[in-house]
Amino acid sequence: MIESNHNPSASNGAAGPRSEIRFKADLTLQRLQPRLQEAWDAADVDEKLRHEFDVRLAEYWPELFSLLYELYGQRYDFFYHLEQILITAVRAWIDRPEQLRELDRHRVNTPDWFASQKIVGGALYVDLFSENLGKLRESIGYFKDLGLTYLHLMPLFAVRPGDSDGGYAISNYRSVDPRLGTIEDLRKLADELREAGILLVLDFVFNHTSDDHDWAKLAQSGNREYQEFYYLFPDRQQPDRYEQTLREIFPTVRRGNFTWHDGMQQWVWTTFNSFQWDLNYSNPAVFRAMLEEMFFIAGTGVDMLRLDAVAFIWKEMGTSCENLPKAHQLIRAFNRLARIATPGLLFKSEAIVHPDDVVKYISPQECQLSYNPTLMALLWESLATRKTDLLVRSLSHRHVLPKHTAWVNYLRCHDDIGWTFDDADAAVLGINAYDHRQFLNRFYTGQHEGSFARGVPFQQNVETGDMRIAGTLASLAGLELAIERDSPEQRELSIRRMMLLQSITLSIGGIPLIYLGEEWGMLNDYDFVKDPAKAGDTRWVHRPKMQWEFLDDLGDDLDTGHGSIRKTIFRSLQKMIQMRKSLPALAGQTMELVSTGNPHVLCFSRSHEGHRLIVAANFSEYPQTISGNHLRTAGLGRFFEDAISGKTYPTSEELELDRYQYLWLSRV
Ligand code: GLC
Ligand code: GLC
Repeated sequence: MIESNHNPSASNGAAGPRSEIRFKADLTLQRLQPRLQEAWDAADVDEKLRHEFDVRLAEYWPELFSLLYELYGQRYDFFYHLEQILITAVRAWIDRPEQLRELDRHRVNTPDWFASQKIVGGALYVDLFSENLGKLRESIGYFKDLGLTYLHLMPLFAVRPGDSDGGYAISNYRSVDPRLGTIEDLRKLADELREAGILLVLDFVFNHTSDDHDWAKLAQSGNREYQEFYYLFPDRQQPDRYEQTLREIFPTVRRGNFTWHDGMQQWVWTTFNSFQWDLNYSNPAVFRAMLEEMFFIAGTGVDMLRLDAVAFIWKEMGTSCENLPKAHQLIRAFNRLARIATPGLLFKSEAIVHPDDVVKYISPQECQLSYNPTLMALLWESLATRKTDLLVRSLSHRHVLPKHTAWVNYLRCHDDIGWTFDDADAAVLGINAYDHRQFLNRFYTGQHEGSFARGVPFQQNVETGDMRIAGTLASLAGLELAIERDSPEQRELSIRRMMLLQSITLSIGGIPLIYLGEEWGMLNDYDFVKDPAKAGDTRWVHRPKMQWEFLDDLGDDLDTGHGSIRKTIFRSLQKMIQMRKSLPALAGQTMELVSTGNPHVLCFSRSHEGHRLIVAANFSEYPQTISGNHLRTAGLGRFFEDAISGKTYPTSEELELDRYQYLWLSRV
């Protein structure tokens, strides 16, 4: 057992808030030790395991205590929950499978393990991709062939019948949706993925449960303890006061953020769908209950947890109830507990909010990874405008992250595209943000003259004029229109657009994440309206079922250049992924913008441990030039080779980029 480094009762003189909290932390731990001892005794484990745990507990306890004290110190039952939380952590470490503990040890000693350029992610719905978990195991070869080393499975736990928001309305975190398999199947898949060198990412949907989760059912049956797990109000008085400062996330589902429940005769806080009940984290019982679920999920063999809807987990009257300081403290408390009990586990933040707020979730103490929604939105913005100035402006001060953290860069995911760029970034360039968003919405729904996109509106708010965009990468990039018009020219351009965008997410710094189906150019699927559980949510347009027959022709000879559209896309992406993995300059996050004087070109240099690569990408359908001088200065060389085409470029002359061409240049 590790003794805390000073005796609490002896710390007399040095007053001040820091030493005061330290004193409280140490004394509390001392008082809790006998209870922890019981937990260890009951399990009869190796002394070494206990020692490892105690070292980490000693390291993280003061911070964890102070976080929980700030969150819950005023609660009458604080000490009880604290005790339960620590016992939960002890048990999580004791129950952790030994292979996972091995990974923990390795990762703790290699805090940058996820900075490798060899990490390339993919995301999919199990049912839509392969029907069930058993069959998904048969696709491991496919993932390896494509080059994936990270797999995010969309929520696969037991859900309510009918509409379950694509799995995000969970009724039991400890059982898999029976249509997909069992927890045993999940463990088996995790083991096989690990053997294949593929990381497993699952969601931690902790902002809300389904209305048929046991806790919600107990609440409905009148159990007071469980009613306190949610935000319930007998009349409109408080909801109306909250509403004055709240956004509406799903305005076409229901106006406002509350849903009347007839049985309980109460209003329930429901930020998303009416059947997704927001959890009340001001109650420490909720924190502890979700912590147990988190450890359970982690124990199935998960490498990274995607923290769903992080922005919404703390509410305070008179605020937007998004991104509040206590939301961060909560995530930090979960993080500190993960460091203690499951130290190899990483958190990925899903905060699709203003860029200033997105970064606040990213740190080794909070979420080590985060979706990069600003880059995503601005890549689409550049594709529509053919200009990179807003993207460049944003990257110039928003790409840098703290040490030991990383962006997850993506183009499409299962959700909509929201234009979450910063209005002030736009204003600097003379762009009116409101008008620009209106333009982007018209462009991506195909209403703007000359638009190549075939997107669909999502959650149009008639009052605010707000709207988000649904649609697949291929449909938004013009392939659907090209096929409609039977235009080889448009088809060629759309493929170039898709590859151009991938060339950025694969090279700009961070983990690239493909939404499966992108690799063969899947188009929008309008048939979702036939399913009543999906018809009301246009995001289903970009969540089609995998059509394996489309890939039948992948084996054909590629070098003829006459392959099918799907083959062309698949092979180009596969090659680009291989290329990324072979270029050590693409590890880590270090990225410097290179100014070319050409507004249509995005150019940046990447460097890592002495390796260097320059990326130049033309966002217009006309050839563009950049001066060799710029390149020479940025790339520190006179001749460069493009890793994509193998072509060599001297810097003594101007460099011409073909329409939508991208270059990955290394000095030769
Ligand atoms: C997340 C998910 C989204 C879901 C919402 C509510 O944002 O990505 O699909 O609708 O949370 O769970
Ligand atoms: C909002 C939320 C995000 C969610 C999305 C679903 O943008 O901020 O968390 O994924 O809605 O459409």
